[in-house]
Amino acid sequence: KRIVVLISGSGSNLQALIDKCPQNAKIVGVIANKPDAYGLTRADNAGIETRVLENSRYDTRDAYDHALATAIDALAPDLVVLAGFMRILTPAFVEHYQGRMLNIHPSLLPKYTGLHTHQRAIDAGDTEHGTSVHFVTEELDGGPVILQARVPIFSEDDANTVAARVQQQEHQIYPLVVRWFVEERLRMEAGQAWLDGAPL
Ligand code: GRF
Repeated sequence: KRIVVLISGSGSNLQALIDKCPQNAKIVGVIANKPDAYGLTRADNAGIETRVLENSRYDTRDAYDHALATAIDALAPDLVVLAGFMRILTPAFVEHYQGRMLNIHPSLLPKYTGLHTHQRAIDAGDTEHGTSVHFVTEELDGGPVILQARVPIFSEDDANTVAARVQQQEHQIYPLVVRWFVEERLRMEAGQAWLDGAPL
């Protein structure tokens, strides 16, 4: 199976996917919307083809997403993995990859969609937080959840310590979900995620 990973930044999740890539899968390309995304260096080091498509060079969201889809489809992926890709995607783009695009969001969805999730969890006095892998649908961070990991929040925590704890879990669960997809055990149907034929 061919995998394309989209990033905007550090790419620690990309690194976990590189390190734990299933036997019958290959990350055939990494695309970033920021030229300075450190994940591009990680991809280079792993001998993976990279491409930068800067959103600032496009006038409209539609124009950017169209160019992005063209770049992705040139790599003919079976699966598109969003790994810290900090862009809201157009409905047409999302529709095109329906059922074959995953995202990881640093909260226990449906709690805290959007940005600054760690600080928001702390501010709310939550004692538990986490991360969710989900299929991407039109609704921002709203697609069917596949797998979550939970972490505690301690009184001495700040957003950075919580983020580090969450990311450690992300690096475990994202490669696992990708493996399920590659093994054809995971699919999205009727607005729901299914694993081994059972709804999640
Ligand atoms: C992750 O915490 C992910 O949940 C969020 O963005 C962060 C990306 O980190 N969507 P990295 O670039 O994979 O290190």
